[in-house]
Formats: sequence, structure tokens, C-alpha cells
Amino acid sequence: MLITTQKNYNAYLSRMEELLAQINNYKQEIENFISYSNDAAESFRIKFLGIKGIVKSMMQEMKNVPAEKKKEAGLSLNEFKQIAEAKYEKLKLQTTTSELQIKEDIDYTLPGDAITIGTRHPLSIVRNRIISIFNRLGFTLAEGPEIEDDWHNFTSMNMPKNHPARDMQDTFYVHQNPDWLLRTHTSNVQARVMEKQKPPIRIICPGRVYRNETISARAHCFFHQVEGLYVDDNVSFADLKQTLYFFVQEMFGNDVRIRFRPSYFPFTEPSAEMDISCLICSGSGCNICKYTGWVEILGSGMVHPNVLSTFNIDPEVYTGFAFGMGIERICQLKYRVNDLRLYSQNDVRFLKQFAGVII
Ligand code: PHE
Repeated sequence: MLITTQKNYNAYLSRMEELLAQINNYKQEIENFISYSNDAAESFRIKFLGIKGIVKSMMQEMKNVPAEKKKEAGLSLNEFKQIAEAKYEKLKLQTTTSELQIKEDIDYTLPGDAITIGTRHPLSIVRNRIISIFNRLGFTLAEGPEIEDDWHNFTSMNMPKNHPARDMQDTFYVHQNPDWLLRTHTSNVQARVMEKQKPPIRIICPGRVYRNETISARAHCFFHQVEGLYVDDNVSFADLKQTLYFFVQEMFGNDVRIRFRPSYFPFTEPSAEMDISCLICSGSGCNICKYTGWVEILGSGMVHPNVLSTFNIDPEVYTGFAFGMGIERICQLKYRVNDLRLYSQNDVRFLKQFAGVII
């Protein structure tokens, strides 16, 4: 049993007076407490009414208050507790009403902020369109690597080492291994597909290609091609012509005419370049077609028998045609983009003009 000495008694008495003084200060603090946020109401609760709050810890001190003073201290503390609780209820109410108030101030009928929608890159738009046109003719998508070995890019395409046609394409070689290069054309996908698949083959292969050219309005060190390959029995040059004619009409409209000029590619024989009638001047002559009325859009030809043999496809049984076109070129003609650099500069003033063009 605790025997209260005179010394202890005095200490408890002064502690009690201290508590009463503190209560008065806290009452003032509570009265002045203003808050309009949920957070502040909650921190008020924690400080005064929480498990480790001021009211609780004062309650614990009650046991030390001398008996004849207990009633006075108890009343005071109870009153303090009620004040704190009442204030807390008021704070809660204030925050919910102020939040409601804010919600009521919103005019839900006002138009919202416009969401800016990204646009497809013009080259993607044109590439997707080319793919979908050829899809309708039964060509399926095929893709190949951009870092390629010499064999797939050149040798298998009927361009053995020291073949002069290799010089037509200024090649980027990979330093560590002279057998590796950045593909100079998408014809490497022909090789990649024919080594795995046997006829009938009907593929369309879009992709990025690289050539060591000085960057200007008319040339770039990388650009994009779409390659087409069709190998089956009875594939003829007439099929090639009709396929490409269909493509051009779907891409540019029914009024466009085509013409073929004899050309040379090591992997096709015979080879031809295809021109379309100038879309700008309809053939009467302008600076886009250099006053010829025609613009070149692709290279093509019948797959060279050597290429077929390389992939164990018998050239006596099968024939095929192939073509390759530059996406930038098609895009230039379709959207009048006259500077190749625009495609890779990411200038939104350029890109935004293709907003809403869907494909
Ligand atoms: N690979 C050729 C080039 O890059 C294009 C082409 C492809 C020509 C297929 C004929 C057949 O110029």
C-alpha cells in the first residue's frame, strides 16, 4: 500500500495545479483551432482524443491527485474532454460541408478540357496502307533483321563477293565483324523466308534499311522499303504488272497510269523500274516529275533463277516476281513531303498535319 508522505503530497498538489493550468491553455488552443480539411480534423483527434492523446494521459495522472482534490480535478478534466469531443465533431462536420460546398460549385455542364490525341507518323500511315492493299491480294506480312549477314543481304541475292552491283548500295559494316552489316534493302527478307518456306510464297515485307549517304533533302542514311515476293508455278510478268497496277490504283486513285522501263537488279531477270504518271501535273509536266510527266516509284522483276536455286526451289518448276519500293517516296507523292529530313526530325508542326488520318 502506498503511504503518501507530506513531501509526496505537496508534489502531487503542485502537479495537479500544473495540470489545471495546462487544461486552460489547451481549452484556448481548441477554441482557436480552425480547419477545413479532413487531415487537420484527424490530427486534432490524434492529439487530444487519441489513445496516446492529451486527454488520456491526463486521465492516467488522476490516480496521483490527492483524494480531497480528486473531485475538482475530475470535473475539470471531464469538461475538457467534452470540449475536445465537441470540437472534433464540429471539425468533421465543417470538412464534409466544405467539401460538399466545393462540389456544388462545379458546373458539370461546362465542356471538359480537350484531350490531345497523338497522331500516327506519316510513314506508318503509308506503310500500313501498303500492307493492307497487298493483304487483300493474299500477301502476308514477313519481317527480317536490320543487322544482317553478308550472305542474306548480298550473296544469296545473286551478288557474290566482288560483284560490281554491291557498289550500288553504300553499305554500313559492323566494325567487330566484317560479315555483319546494316541491311541495304529489304530483299534480305526474301532470303530469310525462302530458306525456311517453299512455294507458294506470297509475302509483303516492310522495314528500315541503311545506306551510307550524306543526309540532305533528297537522301538519308536510313529510309524505309516494302518488299514484295510471289513465288509459285505459273507466275508471270503479266501477274507482276497487274498486281502493281492494282496497288497503284488503290493507293493513288483510278486515274493514275503506270509504265515499266527496263532496268537491272542482280536478283531479278528481267528487271524493270516502274513509273507512275505525275500526280501533281497529271502528266503535263512540272518540277516534281522534272517535266517528264512520270515519276519512278519502285524496282521490280522476275526472281532470278540463281536465287531460286540457292534456296532449293527448282527454277524449272517455279517462277516468281519481286518488287521493292521506298515508303518515303510513296509518302512524298501522296502527301507532298519534299524534304526527307522531315520524316526523322520529330517536329510536331509537321507530324500534327497527319492528325485524323486513320489506318
Ligand atoms: N532491292 C532493290 C533496291 O533496294 C529493290 C528491288 C526489290 C528490286 C525487289 C527488284 C526486286 O533497290
